[in-house]
Amino acid sequence: MSGKPVVLVTEPISEIGMQILDQSCEIIAPWKQGRAYNAEELAAAEGIIIRLSKVNAATLSAAPKLKVIGRHGVGVDNVDLKAATERKIPVVFTPSALTMASAVAEHTVQLMLALARHAVAYDRMVREGRWAERSSLMGVEFYQKTLGVVGLGAIGKKVAEICQKGFGMRLVAYDPYVKEPPAGLEVKLVDSLRKLLQEADVVTLHLPSTAETYYLIDAEALGRMKPTALLINAARGRIVDTIALAQALESGKILGAALDVFEDEPPPLNHPILAAPRTLLAPHVASMTSGSMARMAELVARQVVQVLTGERPAHVANPAVYETGPAA
Ligand code: GLV
Repeated sequence: MSGKPVVLVTEPISEIGMQILDQSCEIIAPWKQGRAYNAEELAAAEGIIIRLSKVNAATLSAAPKLKVIGRHGVGVDNVDLKAATERKIPVVFTPSALTMASAVAEHTVQLMLALARHAVAYDRMVREGRWAERSSLMGVEFYQKTLGVVGLGAIGKKVAEICQKGFGMRLVAYDPYVKEPPAGLEVKLVDSLRKLLQEADVVTLHLPSTAETYYLIDAEALGRMKPTALLINAARGRIVDTIALAQALESGKILGAALDVFEDEPPPLNHPILAAPRTLLAPHVASMTSGSMARMAELVARQVVQVLTGERPAHVANPAVYETGPAA
């Protein structure tokens, strides 16, 4: 052992993050050998950096030396914040405005376009020699249509901006935490999700996964949407009741849906959403651009090192750990 703090990096991160860690830590990166971490590695870790893997109460009790959890990304729903806070372990993360908002927003918009204009189906038509079928699928255009943005944080705002400035869309937004429309955009802020769902031609979700947002889009909400509407979810799977969504698509209650996230990831191959009409699916990749991955890796690595060297980082998801002094 080098005497340096051990940091377990559970999934691949950009080289820049690895280089920052390497200067002052001993890194365990089992993914480099194509395997998951083992109990011994977890037990040795003073820091852990995760992407989608979970840190729950059981993980924490198997990690007695742990002093910091680094979440490479913005959502911290895969960390048991309460259990980490009880152990006075700071959970550092990489807020979207700094690292990933553009990447996620661009992916959201490409999902909208690809869904509305049948990108995947057209590609197959050409490759499979079915050119003559080209008139069988009609696209939807966005000009002067209404985009309903649920959640006006950094990502929601960026999507709104691209769609208004780029496509000439009208904007309606619902976010109980936002009282003023964002500067530079014409947004109709509504005080209920119901109003947004009734007006929007495209509904896009940009919310964290919390008890409050669980199944926000359920059968009833889907029933309020226009039959011509599209739903885009590049936020978190648990915000949408996906069985109800599959039924809404089957029965024509809404026109189409694009999902980058699922209640269970990966979704079981017999999940009805995989067989539902007019769907476009992606494997939770909205933030996966080289720029965004590098920014997230750099920020998470720096903050993990800060905690390990006794400094307080800027982005701590459970600031309560600092209320009664640092961890013993
Ligand atoms: C990605 O989904 C993230 O929360 O960073």
